[in-house]
This record gives sequence, C-alpha cells and structure tokens, in this order.
Amino acid sequence: MNAAIARARAQAALTDLRPQPDDIAADAIAGLSRTPKSLPSKYFYDAEGSRLFEAITRQPEYYLTRVELALMEAQMPSIAQAIGGGVHVVEFGSGSGRKTELLLEGLDAPVAYTPIEISRTALMDSVTRLGQQFADVEMLPVCADFTRPVPLPAAARRAQRTLVFFPGSTLGNFNNAEAVQLLTSMRDTMAADGCALIGIDLDKDPATIEAAYNDLAGVTAAFTLNLLARLNREIGSDFDLDGFRHHAVYARERMRIETALVSERAQAVHIGDRRFEFAEGEAMRVEVSQKYTDASFAALAAQAGLRVSHGWNDTSDCFGLRLLQPA
Ligand code: AVJ
Repeated sequence: MNAAIARARAQAALTDLRPQPDDIAADAIAGLSRTPKSLPSKYFYDAEGSRLFEAITRQPEYYLTRVELALMEAQMPSIAQAIGGGVHVVEFGSGSGRKTELLLEGLDAPVAYTPIEISRTALMDSVTRLGQQFADVEMLPVCADFTRPVPLPAAARRAQRTLVFFPGSTLGNFNNAEAVQLLTSMRDTMAADGCALIGIDLDKDPATIEAAYNDLAGVTAAFTLNLLARLNREIGSDFDLDGFRHHAVYARERMRIETALVSERAQAVHIGDRRFEFAEGEAMRVEVSQKYTDASFAALAAQAGLRVSHGWNDTSDCFGLRLLQPA
C-alpha cells in the first residue's frame, strides 16, 4: 500500500477530539492565577514541541529513550509471553512510534492499534508509518487529550484483551493525584482481563538525572520555551521568549525533576483582557518528571486498584517496564 493511501485510510478512521483554543486559554489562565504560577505540560507537544522532544531523545545526556528501547529489545520475548496473543494495543500518546514498532513486532498477532495523541502531526505520522509496516494490525488513531475519558473505537476483529501501552516514563509528568486518576482511567480502558505496560524512569544518582534535563546543546531549554511560543501563537498571549529561562533541578526528597521558566526581570504577560505580573527571578512551574523505586511505583499503582504482575529493568536498574493488572 502506498503512503498516500495509507494516510487517507488512517485519516478516515481518525477520531478527532483535539483541544480547542478556548480550553488552552482557560488552562493557561488557571495556571497563571495560582501561587506559584504554573502552566500545564501537556501543551508542550505541538508540531514544533514534538520535533524538539524527538531531538531531546537524541542528546547524549537524555538516557531515558535509549535505555528503554534497549530494554524492550532485550526483553520483548518475555514481555510478549506475559501479555499473551491477539490484543488490542491502546497507546497513551504516540511519540515517534519506535517503541510501538518493537511492541507490535514482538507481540503474538496483535489485532488493532489505537494511539491516543494530542499532537495531530505526531499521531498521523506514526499511524501512517505503522499502518504500512503492520498490514494485519487495524489502525484506529484517536486525536485527543488522554487525560480525559476517551471512547475506544471498536476493532473489526475481536481482541482477546486490551493492552494499554504507556512508555517513556510519561506518567512522571503527572502529579500523584493526576497519575492515580490516569492509571484509574487505564484500568477502565483495559477492563478486568486487560493489562498495562508502563515505562518508568528509576531513582538514581541525581547528577545523571539532572544532566538529562539540562543538555549542553540546549535542546531541552528550547523545548521548554516552545511552550510559550505555542501559547503566543494559539491563544494570543504575549510572553517574551527572551524574558524567561529554563531551570530544571532534581528534588531528591520528592524524587522528581522540577522544571520551571524563570522570569529574567519584572514583567507583565497578557492573555485576552487578563494581565499577569512576574517578579524578577519568579519561577513558573511547567513540568515535573517523577522518578520511581519499586516500592513507590507499586504504591502508586495500588492507589488505582492495580498490581504489578511483572517487571523488567535494564542491567543497571536505570529504567524499568512494569506490567499492571487489576488488583
Ligand atoms: C516524554 C514526558 C518522559 O519527562 O523525561 C524531556 C519529557 N521533558 N525533557 C520527560 C521531557 C524534558 C519527557 N517525557
């Protein structure tokens, strides 16, 4: 099948529930009205943000993607055996699709693939490529914010069970309450006989973690600042991109990277008729990246009525994959 036909087919099946400018503006205003100020990290991933994230994964300091891919390559037979055959794979987010490729290749006869992804560009690129590569797997993309309930498209062929796939330690971008809510919604999606395969970045030497979020080439800083560029473009805010700098530190007590944009001077930012004052040095929180121990992750899963049935780590216990099932 050629690329144009694959794209047309994928688009025909697309469920489009993208966030609208009003939702984004309301979220931004809510965040800027808090103390400390914050912005939701889910809006990082417009076309440029997704491109910059891909560039982050190629930086030497950003070990997460490389280690997780190597882990999947090494452990796929064991992972496939734990999951079983004939599943409908539902991925929360779609990224570049490299991990998905390994998963669909390694699983026993998967029936359908549903990526739920907020960036339409990333979503369509991923299903176009995967649709060509996996002709026997039905592609059912959904363009939506996966933090809200999403109705699952039904596969033409009946699946044995649903597998939720959530790699990359993306779960770490949510605070505890949000992560529990998200895992609970995954539990609903997988149903009583389903399971979820989750990638988690493990607690380790703080210097290694901090370097990953402060790459020398400045790609992570550009990624963080792109959030402001995106808001300016889509909701007409007037953030001065030269007036803020990227700041990411590992808060060991909380086991998470906390990323902020720090105001370089006293300044005001406008969204519609709203005005927000920033003091010099004021930090606006834009992202957290939670790291886990076996115990902290099992406790989090338990709060969502899930138990860890299987686990795989790379040989240095740097990054892990966990299989969750309803408790
Ligand atoms: C894709 C969410 C896992 O938190 O490590 C990378 C995003 N932010 N560098 C992460 C990110 C800054 C990334 N996740």
